[in-house]
Amino acid sequence: MSIQQDNIKKLVERREKARLGGGQKRIDAQHQKGKYTARERLAMLLDEGSFEEFDMFVQHRCTNFGMEKSHVDGDGVVTGCGTIGGRLVYVYAQDFTVSGGSLSKTMSEKMCKVMDMAIRNGAPLIGLNDSGGARIQEGVDALAGYGEIFERNILGSGVVPQISGIFGPCAGGAVYSPALTDFTVMVKNTSYMFLTGPAVVKSVLGEDVTSEQLGGASVHASKSGVANFAAENEEEGIRIIKELLSYIPQNNMEEAPRVATSDPVSRVDDTLNEIIPDNPNKAYDMFAVINSIVDDGKFFEISKDFAKNVIVGFAHMNGRSVGIVANQPKVLAGVLDINASRKAARFVRFCDAFNIPLVTLVDVPGFLPGTQQEYGAVITNGAKLLYAYGEATVPKVTVELRKSYGGSYIVMSSKHLRSDIVYAWPSAEIAVMGADGAVKVLYAKDIKDIEDPEEQKKMAEEKKKEYNELFNNPYQAAQKGYIDDIIEPRNTRFRIIRALEELAGKKQELPAKKHDNLPL
Ligand code: HXC
Repeated sequence: MSIQQDNIKKLVERREKARLGGGQKRIDAQHQKGKYTARERLAMLLDEGSFEEFDMFVQHRCTNFGMEKSHVDGDGVVTGCGTIGGRLVYVYAQDFTVSGGSLSKTMSEKMCKVMDMAIRNGAPLIGLNDSGGARIQEGVDALAGYGEIFERNILGSGVVPQISGIFGPCAGGAVYSPALTDFTVMVKNTSYMFLTGPAVVKSVLGEDVTSEQLGGASVHASKSGVANFAAENEEEGIRIIKELLSYIPQNNMEEAPRVATSDPVSRVDDTLNEIIPDNPNKAYDMFAVINSIVDDGKFFEISKDFAKNVIVGFAHMNGRSVGIVANQPKVLAGVLDINASRKAARFVRFCDAFNIPLVTLVDVPGFLPGTQQEYGAVITNGAKLLYAYGEATVPKVTVELRKSYGGSYIVMSSKHLRSDIVYAWPSAEIAVMGADGAVKVLYAKDIKDIEDPEEQKKMAEEKKKEYNELFNNPYQAAQKGYIDDIIEPRNTRFRIIRALEELAGKKQELPAKKHDNLPL
């Protein structure tokens, strides 16, 4: 064998060994826990043969606690780039088989390298997390590594889409990287996220709680909103990441890919003319409206188990990617509360940062009253949504379906927040409040002055009728130009698509500033 052949043989062998990470025994242990390895996950995520790996031979530099004797090529993370559906992405996948995927300084350097490349080259960053946290033997170096990663999450925010997959433990300060990214996908039963684990919770608070109860996928997808998706298994988690990417652009200078569709633009749906119940207190399912107007009835919902009174997600309309925000009358009558405001605000800001037009479907009775909401700062949280819509410069098309009262009328992408086109169905009720409340405020004294209870009732009904005629229809708003047109519900798809086509060239600037001061 020539020297060169020998060199090549050594390279091939060293690569093979590096690909085994912490070794076959630990790979088997990973599989026994129902988890895939970092490389198996990347193989599922990326187009076949597209993975270009970096830093396969990087080793940690720690010399504490005997660490100088144990080195694994690549350390505890696999990094590089590849394609998904032919589109470039940068990736890292923490390798639990090497020191439990715990973060060393060199691992952070590998991760920061791909983060910098993603930002520089304008491609999404996908991080798959499965780690025991800061590598204990490295002390402050490991903490420094986290800090450097967080800084890049921040610098890349709004520049390239960042998606976190949580496919194993993600605890302590490590949770802040996913929290800084745009979307977080967790896997049920095998992943968890918390700042302090069950043992600390027990010792500090005396509470008995399991990892799953404290920070499992279902908990974060439904209660805290920290996770946008709770996948049944890793395969589904990977599928979700891929589908999500199909609706979003590579970076903030590009538009999302336009897809071919055979769904006619002019398709009308007569069932929408019948969907609003005669009784204003009766609910209907907003999903029926969304599914009716988007291409092929295909809606990709985000955070579907959290704050269900508002619906957010992506769809295509005439092949164009759109972000849909809609109140859901079926849940809490579609009221806006703290969580619904936070959820919708974050989504609106993502769409605005990445040039995705916003379609808003409004049926909102107002903000949820009460001490719980006020003490929890519904004012500040509601202001987030107000702010998000008000600052958004992407094309904004709004449809007022039914109730649109008070502050929530303004917040939900009204004309006054620079919405480009506002349509209303004939069933729209745009007013300061509902008739009941209004009559109580305006005529309480007059009604009280009437002695006969029957007469009292009669006057209240008359005044309600008067109020309804005046306000509970879209015509007053349309007379003032706050509504651009009143449309037949069956034509909603066609009208929105036509509006989006008109707005395709929209350019709008914000006043020069260092950055805004969004109410937090
Ligand atoms: C070094 C670690 C490690 C860590 C795990 N390992 N976590 N090594 N630093 N943080 C090693 C283990 O020693 C073991 O090595 C291997 O990884 C697998 O771990 P196991 O415990 O055998 O696996 P499992 O039973 O599945 O338990 C996983 C685990 C547990 C729940 C993650 O390992 C654990 O609790 N680790 C410590 C978690 C922790 O407290 N991290 C620090 C958080 S504070 P061998 O050689 O036996 O295979 C933090 C601060 C960040 O992260 C701040 C950022 C701002």
